[in-house]
Amino acid sequence: MKNIAVIGAGSMGNGITHTFAQFGYKVNLIDISQESLDKGMATITKNLDRMLSKERISEDDKKSTLDHITTFTDLKEGAKSVDLVVEAATENEKIKLDLFKQLDEICPENTILASNTSSIPITKIAAVTKRAEKVIGMHFMNPVPIMKLVEIIRGYNTSDETNNTIVELSKNLKKVPTEVNDYPGFVANRILMPMINEAVETLYNNVAGVQEIDTVMKLGMAHPMGPLQLADFIGLDVCLSILEVMYDGFKNPKYAPCPLLVNMVRAGKMGVKSGEGFYDYSKSKKAEKVSSQFSAA
Ligand SMILES: NC(=O)c1ccc[n+]([C@@H]2O[C@H](COP(=O)([O-])OP(=O)(O)OC[C@H]3O[C@@H](n4cnc5c(N)ncnc54)[C@H](O)[C@@H]3O)[C@@H](O)[C@H]2O)c1
Repeated sequence: MKNIAVIGAGSMGNGITHTFAQFGYKVNLIDISQESLDKGMATITKNLDRMLSKERISEDDKKSTLDHITTFTDLKEGAKSVDLVVEAATENEKIKLDLFKQLDEICPENTILASNTSSIPITKIAAVTKRAEKVIGMHFMNPVPIMKLVEIIRGYNTSDETNNTIVELSKNLKKVPTEVNDYPGFVANRILMPMINEAVETLYNNVAGVQEIDTVMKLGMAHPMGPLQLADFIGLDVCLSILEVMYDGFKNPKYAPCPLLVNMVRAGKMGVKSGEGFYDYSKSKKAEKVSSQFSAA
């Protein structure tokens, strides 16, 4: 497996691209938006520069990583001859189902189609293709170049061969693949999102302020960052959408999103990516500061 297509150049897509390219894979990075592609490449370059300044990579490593990446706005051009697609487009079921339908037509019959979805059932995505045995979840964590976990999600029809190929590939990226079955939220978000939602509910109920809630969890539970700050990094819209999928999938009120989270997303406060969430990233250098802490390793 040498040629990879990554779909979506946002927070996750650029990190996934960076990681594959750093380990010598040729990556076609595809996005419908040229602006997202430019922003994604700028982020990859900035992150490589940070690694270079910490002497974790050489100037040659930086150059060869960038040389391994080609960008495309045309899905067909970017995906027509790859061995693996990792889809990391916007967390929206219609967008993903449309993409997988097209990929099934465009890609060679042996190509494995993986999704980085946080919550949309892999079995549902696989069902729009004629190769359900070659569809799998490859759930990377943010920031991808730093975080070790890849949650590997087996859809109902995913074959052992596909599963084993993706497990081995993840190890080649120096990640720790962890196999889970396809139920709403998988494992990571089934446990993380109720905690984030409860932190928002705690704020909504006026039990404590943003700083206080995050401080309790950071200093009291040794979490590297508080749940509200983590929600800002993940994107409040992404958190809301995952909670809605779990609420819908389990029909259990414990996953109902807090009204404050719903309101913030409606008001366009998505966290770091929109400049404001539980913290304000627009006026100060805080986002920059928090971001470098987040990716420090
Ligand atoms: N943000 C996180 O912390 C996180 C963690 C794990 C998994 N995920 C999952 O990763 C995926 C991407 O999330 P993100 O935070 O990077 O989103 P994002 O909003 O930062 O980026 C999404 C990108 O997809 C592009 N896009 C939308 N429709 C497209 C299409 N049809 N073809 C090509 N590109 C398209 C957009 O232009 C945008 O650049 C989602 O499924 C999300 O649930 C996110």
